[in-house]
Amino acid sequence: MHDLSAKSAYELRTPYAFWRETEGIPMYDGYWIEDVRTVELGDWPRTGGRGAFVNLNGAGMNCDAHINEIPPKQQLKAERHLYEEIVFILSGQGATVIWNDGGAKHTLEWQEGSLFSPPLNTWHQHFNADSSRPARFISLTSAPQAINQYRNLDFIFNNPFIFSDRYRGEAGELTKPGQYIQKGVKPGRVWETNFVANLMEFQPKEHSARGAGTRNSLFEFVGNTMSAHLSAFPPGKYKKAHRHGPGAHIVILTGNGYSLMWPEGTEPQRIDWRPGSLVVPPLDWYHQHFCPGPEPARFIALNPGDSNILWRISPSPTGTKTRVARKSNMAIRIRRFTGCSSKSATGAGHKHKCRCLPDQARRKAIL
Ligand SMILES: [Fe+2]
Repeated sequence: MHDLSAKSAYELRTPYAFWRETEGIPMYDGYWIEDVRTVELGDWPRTGGRGAFVNLNGAGMNCDAHINEIPPKQQLKAERHLYEEIVFILSGQGATVIWNDGGAKHTLEWQEGSLFSPPLNTWHQHFNADSSRPARFISLTSAPQAINQYRNLDFIFNNPFIFSDRYRGEAGELTKPGQYIQKGVKPGRVWETNFVANLMEFQPKEHSARGAGTRNSLFEFVGNTMSAHLSAFPPGKYKKAHRHGPGAHIVILTGNGYSLMWPEGTEPQRIDWRPGSLVVPPLDWYHQHFCPGPEPARFIALNPGDSNILWRISPSPTGTKTRVARKSNMAIRIRRFTGCSSKSATGAGHKHKCRCLPDQARRKAIL
């Protein structure tokens, strides 16, 4: 293991940056990735598979994402670590075995669309059940925080401490049925679970406060400080502009559309997306998602904080709430951006069927 403490002393680069370099795999930065299902990966000796780091600007050094690929009918090396991880299966089918030292091994069988989180510092090993195709997943992790704080990879990756308050290793604990929690700032919309078999079959709750036809449910993995939320909205609709803390990694599941993102006082930048795209709005940037159609849009956002904390770390004067853009300001900004003179472009009860999509000449360059 490398001595990150000595290596990073009095350096501008963080211990995490030094560690990332030693892993020897590609790293992607910027504001978005067109398709995480097909982005180029490199051999990753530590995991035994292929992979890449994703360090988009919007993560704000708060979290990172790892893309992992397991070759056909093979498995990654078993690992444990003192950073949290939420795993979303992008393609393929297989299983993950999870255990604590001296405890029983339990297995999650997954497929494309599965979502789960190996409990903190448990051993876990991913297997590809398909003999002809690789399996690929993306995981949001808190590795930057953990590695920058402790600066000791032996402590992070070889620590025997068992968080029995989070996971006891009992039969059925990982797959017990989820339930909606009726407390917190979003009562009745937070699904507490350890495993979602397929996000495409999960019906999120109606949430028109974020836009006509919008549905939204949040996921809390028992014991985790990280969370996720699933959003869906129909063709010809949009989600209201809002802003919050950094690090929400949005993976598009269905639909072809675009997002506008901008820091206060600047012009919106447009990012076109499709299934497999990843977008991360930076800290306190307004962002708004549009679905011109014809397919409904659905995305999973992997969040570095719990369903309350992600918003609480925003400098919002409302404290625990996401700030939603004032309609009047939004209408002006969107009409200016799209060239549309219709007041229905952003009004309440949105009638904007994207008849006034930005013409090519007015499109901003991709961020
Ligand atoms: Fe957001």
